[in-house]
Amino acid sequence: MLRFETAGESHGECLVATLTGLPAGIPISLAAINHELWRRQQGYGRGGRMKIETDQVEVVAGVRHSHTIGSPVALLIRNRDWQNWTQALPVEDVAGGEERRKPVTRPRPGHADLAGAIKYNFHDARYVLERASARETAARVAVGALAKALLGAFGIEVFSHVIAVGHAWLERAAAWEEIVALWQKTEVLLGCVDSETEARMKEVVDEAYRTGDTVGGVFEVRAHGVPPGLGSHITWDSRLDGRLAQAIVSMQAVKGAEVGFAQEGAASFGSKVQDTIHYDREGRRFTRGANRAGGLEGGITNGEDVVVRGFLKPISTLRRPLESVDLQTREPALAAYERSDVAVVPAALGQSAGLVGAAALLFAADRYWAGG
Ligand SMILES: Cc1cc2nc3c(=O)[nH]c(=O)nc-3n(C[C@H](O)[C@H](O)[C@H](O)COP(=O)(O)O)c2cc1C
Repeated sequence: MLRFETAGESHGECLVATLTGLPAGIPISLAAINHELWRRQQGYGRGGRMKIETDQVEVVAGVRHSHTIGSPVALLIRNRDWQNWTQALPVEDVAGGEERRKPVTRPRPGHADLAGAIKYNFHDARYVLERASARETAARVAVGALAKALLGAFGIEVFSHVIAVGHAWLERAAAWEEIVALWQKTEVLLGCVDSETEARMKEVVDEAYRTGDTVGGVFEVRAHGVPPGLGSHITWDSRLDGRLAQAIVSMQAVKGAEVGFAQEGAASFGSKVQDTIHYDREGRRFTRGANRAGGLEGGITNGEDVVVRGFLKPISTLRRPLESVDLQTREPALAAYERSDVAVVPAALGQSAGLVGAAALLFAADRYWAGG
């Protein structure tokens, strides 16, 4: 079985990840993993941190001479910002360490600060936000790049694009070729395939900048070249649609997942929603009238592109802070502000393909590998 874990804090020494179960002989390129990490850091609306970090992966186990060797793969990504935090977050306490901490006592509504502080009985949310931070997804993206390498060996490709920022929506379907072309760009604005829509999206981000606010959005992940038969209807946890939803919603700030055209389908009649079935005798394969199901029926891939969308809320660190309460005094206070992003949807799309690759298609590939 393929399994991965990550560890690491936002301002700690590094992020680490292990991936167990990759078969031997899969070609691995450091440049390809680093490209995915670069992609995760791009996009209009990202905060100052992206200027400090240029993520580079170090593979410290499981890959030799550019191929997996069947043993666990271990990855490390150093946090360049750690040099500014050695005094505030030392591993071992030192005399006078108390004064060097950077406490967060005014929890941000929407962040993990308050819920985490209550759960772990901390009077300062620092340790909570250090791990709740989406910095963690850098490790998942790196693991996702390995998953994509495995899927690539079967001709499966996974890419993503942005379909909404706030109220600015892409109002047409994106062709697969457009999504691939987007991925090859060396400059990323908001990750939308349509330049006119992207300009409207940018206006929304600019408005959020101007008003000290933040804005959410929607991204779409597509897997192409997926064979029919991955996932299963037989148990709740072998349904691939459920696995994909977990992969998407486990991403920080993602509050909803959609498989295919779920929202539109819920508001339509069945005759307009289901994808009619046809047979191509020459090609000796079933074909479908459309792909509104997003390539999944009964939790099983049907051979069409797998299409999953993630809905991101606006992030919770606002330059114009919301009402909160100080954890130590219990007095009303404005929520804490720490250098932050304004719109993370283009970044989320960078990691979403990786996450889907890592958490869900990894599972699919696993079953595929096992012939299940
Ligand atoms: C790519 C990405 C970057 C993020 N950057 C920030 C940020 O700069 N500031 C912030 O408050 N939240 C940010 N978030 C969201 C928080 O990590 C998230 O809201 C928090 O961990 C609470 O989890 P929840 O929103 O899933 O409930 C980011 C999320 C993603 C996906």
